[in-house]
Amino acid sequence: MKTLDNLKLIQGGMGIGVSLGNLAGAVMREDCMGVISFAQPGYKQPDFWTNTLEANKRQFSIEVSRAREISENKGLLGVNIMVAGNDYQKYVNCAVENKVDAIISGAGLPLDLPKFVPSSILIAPIVSSQRAFDLIVKVWQKRYQRTPDFVIVEGPKAGGHLGFDLKQLKEKSTQSLADIVQEVKQSIMKLNVKIPLFAAGGIMTHQDVLDIQAHGADGVQVATRFIVTQECDAHENFKQAILNAKQEDILFVKSPSGFPGRGLRSKFVDAMMTRDHNLSIKRCVDCLKACNPQDTIYCITQALINSVSGYVNQGLVFAGERAFELTQMSSVKEVIDDLLNR
Ligand SMILES: Cc1cc2nc3c(=O)[nH]c(=O)nc-3n(C[C@H](O)[C@H](O)[C@H](O)COP(=O)(O)O)c2cc1C
Repeated sequence: MKTLDNLKLIQGGMGIGVSLGNLAGAVMREDCMGVISFAQPGYKQPDFWTNTLEANKRQFSIEVSRAREISENKGLLGVNIMVAGNDYQKYVNCAVENKVDAIISGAGLPLDLPKFVPSSILIAPIVSSQRAFDLIVKVWQKRYQRTPDFVIVEGPKAGGHLGFDLKQLKEKSTQSLADIVQEVKQSIMKLNVKIPLFAAGGIMTHQDVLDIQAHGADGVQVATRFIVTQECDAHENFKQAILNAKQEDILFVKSPSGFPGRGLRSKFVDAMMTRDHNLSIKRCVDCLKACNPQDTIYCITQALINSVSGYVNQGLVFAGERAFELTQMSSVKEVIDDLLNR
């Protein structure tokens, strides 16, 4: 098993297709953890819409090989698998078969993750509260005699799906990232087990890293900054949409997952937010446990595939609260050197 000693930075998993082998490998080469998203990585495979599970597993293996090749044997390879997705267990099994270094799971409570993963692979939940962390630890210890190898604490400024109540997010009355980090750190200290804590959501500068470390984080997980890198796997139009975004373009969006999301305003998002029903869903890959294609407001798989393929106005671009601060493209090395001040 690879160790987490001295690991300071994890690149957050970004689906659909935003963090695949290219981005993850480039992050690994900088001695950090690169993360491939297992949210529909097979979207470019010809049989994706008819044979989704196999297309995703096939492409995932290709992305793992690519990341390893680029990494020059440095860093760690993680995979992000969302609990909210159907076929969760099958994707976890596939990640295990591909011998990734770490499996990270959020968008729900990964209560049974240890059941499917040997101790040679690191496992970590993504939590947005001390309560969720405590519950996961209790269940993992009781059922599987295992504790998390590390934990991601995701605060309200993150991009993608958020583990907070939409009303509280809008009123800005959620707990801050620093508060949640402190509370989870207290829980870890009571356990008397070493569980490195990585803080996520709105980490944009080296000062942000220092500030959150002062509250007890061992390192950070960063996503949005990595979108505007040459190595990011998304289409250039997706990256450009982030660079063009102004503060008022970053908003909360509804999601068929049941969680609120944060992304960029687009023609699609404007139309979707003013409707409560979408009759135009023609095909479905049954991706989310919570989604009913008969009455869902839109197909999130199609919306995310559109944007990552370059059709940003017909799709959804997930982004963190501070995405508007990004004004130039960089390399992965430049982003990491800047964040870690090296
Ligand atoms: C484009 C995009 C896609 C994301 N997709 C996922 C995902 O598939 N699964 C997940 O757990 N988190 C996802 N996230 C959340 C990130 O992994 C990360 O924790 C969060 O965005 C950190 O905040 P930051 O973007 O401000 O750095 C996504 C974020 C973005 C911006």
